[in-house]
Amino acid sequence: MTAPVAMTARPHGAGHPAPVLLHVQDLHAAYGDSRVLSGVALTVRAGEAVTLLGRNGMGKTTTIRSVLGLVARVDGVVMFDGVSILGRPTHLIARAGIGLVPEGRQIFPNLTVAENLRVCATAGAWTLARVYGLFPRLAERRTNMGGQLSGGEQQMLAIGRALMTNPKLLILDEATEGLAPLIRQEIWTCLMALKAAGQAILVVDKNVAALMRFADRHVMLEKGRVVWQGSTDELRADQYLTARYLGV
Ligand SMILES: Nc1ncnc2c1ncn2[C@@H]1O[C@H](COP(=O)(O)OP(=O)(O)O)[C@@H](O)[C@H]1O
Ligand SMILES: [Mg+2]
Repeated sequence: MTAPVAMTARPHGAGHPAPVLLHVQDLHAAYGDSRVLSGVALTVRAGEAVTLLGRNGMGKTTTIRSVLGLVARVDGVVMFDGVSILGRPTHLIARAGIGLVPEGRQIFPNLTVAENLRVCATAGAWTLARVYGLFPRLAERRTNMGGQLSGGEQQMLAIGRALMTNPKLLILDEATEGLAPLIRQEIWTCLMALKAAGQAILVVDKNVAALMRFADRHVMLEKGRVVWQGSTDELRADQYLTARYLGV
């Protein structure tokens, strides 16, 4: 068992770990009578990039949706920035500082790029100009409707929209799914830059090689339970893990 994690912010220089942003423990979730999560635990600290790994249907999206208050039947502990958010409405959870890039992007097809970006914006370091700086392609297409964009541009828009909420924690669910290799690379480059700037990130993706280049720690789910967690070095050192739990 891991030691309990301190929930309060403290100076994190030499020897002090960064403060915990997201702390999930003993999370259970179900859709109707069908139990999907059975005691998931997960921690993301400030500045960390953490992955949620596992085959299709293992509960990655449900874990994320549970954190965001989007699953009706949930139980357990979900703390964000030292405050319990379990059972709180999604818009308040978002306002507390979690920006979600959902599976399937879910941008607004009948709003322009600029409108999509402004719709959930809050005051902070992320502005339209800064998002356009990160994704020049979105600047070129700012007056186009969301539905007119390519898949890659829609994904950039979904990331930009989440950043416009100035999140303390950015969560991405399959953000490179179905994209051409060059666009994928562009997304990874962007995520690397965000991480280098200190953004905390929780990411679900199928590209394990890219995740190992990008993330600090990994949490492996199987059938709604955490079956392994560890650092990138530990994951890389144990081929059995990816073969057993991811089939790669
Ligand atoms: N809205 C839903 N209603 C009923 N079952 C669902 C729903 N969403 C997901 N599930 C089921 O929950 C399990 C976990 O799904 P999900 O969290 O989407 O997995 P992953 O993101 O790891 O692929 C799967 O068995 C899936 O079929
Ligand atoms: Mg999923």
